[in-house]
Amino acid sequence: MPTRKATARAHPNIALIKYWGNRDDNLRIPVNGSISINLAGLETITTVNFSKAIAEDRLMLNGEQQAGETTGRVSRHLDHIRHLAGINLPADVQSRNNFPTGTGIASSASAFAALTAAACSALDLHPAEADLSALARLGSGSACRSVPGGFTEWHVGVDHQTSHATGIAPAEHWNLVDLVTIVSREHKIIGSTEGHRLADTSPLQAARIADTPRRLDICRAAILERDFEALADIIEQDALMMHAVLLTSRPTLIYWLPATLSIIQAVQTWRSDGIPAAFTIDAGPNVHVISTTEYRNKLNTLLGEIKGVQSVLTTGIGGPAHVISEHLDN
Ligand code: PMV
Repeated sequence: MPTRKATARAHPNIALIKYWGNRDDNLRIPVNGSISINLAGLETITTVNFSKAIAEDRLMLNGEQQAGETTGRVSRHLDHIRHLAGINLPADVQSRNNFPTGTGIASSASAFAALTAAACSALDLHPAEADLSALARLGSGSACRSVPGGFTEWHVGVDHQTSHATGIAPAEHWNLVDLVTIVSREHKIIGSTEGHRLADTSPLQAARIADTPRRLDICRAAILERDFEALADIIEQDALMMHAVLLTSRPTLIYWLPATLSIIQAVQTWRSDGIPAAFTIDAGPNVHVISTTEYRNKLNTLLGEIKGVQSVLTTGIGGPAHVISEHLDN
């Protein structure tokens, strides 16, 4: 049996219209569509080597051998791809993020997008982008949005094949930046896989879902028209709606810290003073401040002056997940 090996790169993404809650937890088919941007400069690079020389799947993450559930989740994901290729070889997986963990940037999106792209290429599967996106979704929902480049939308779909992301516009379309403002590096109280299961315990979730097509339409149009005011208004409302659900879930999920609220208020004041700045917040306390390249340095300084801000990481809009080296020994 030949050794089959490939390496792929993917960027993490930040959702502008959030995904929260699944219609099908196993297939990670969401209850609502979502829109995100890929984050340039931040990346996961993963090499997958299917080989009979090892007894079982192995996972090395940032140079450290992993065990338990982390390896289990990767193994279960590789099973889908092995099944498609009709092979049963164990895999040696080496993965590296160039961004620190615990900075409020979900590494699972770039991790599963890169893993899926590398594993498919190693097994000589060459799925269309939509199919690669659907496959990545099985590992982590938001990973499907890291497959196409730039501004992407995840369509809910009706089944595995149709629940995938497509590009709204390429990275070059609009010179937005994300200033990831870190107020805590502590580990999340509840991870997103478990969090999605709690979404329905909030009486506000049904209203949030029902209103999602409106938010998606406004956000998509704002992106296509490069209308910052419209974008700012809708992404802030969307993030606050998700946090309203989190706050009113059982158990309650209160992720904000005092500095989180200070940044929210500062961003709204800056915008009323004419600076294009808008916030969005994932299931954590750190705030993503969206702006344009012209205001990057000014906002960096302003954010650094807020009490409780530990650091600011600046990124632009990133391209698609892609294979960077392929290697099939025959
Ligand atoms: O893909 P997951 O299971 O890590 O969930 C992501 C959930 C949020 O980051 C809070 C929202 C989103 O759409 O990315």
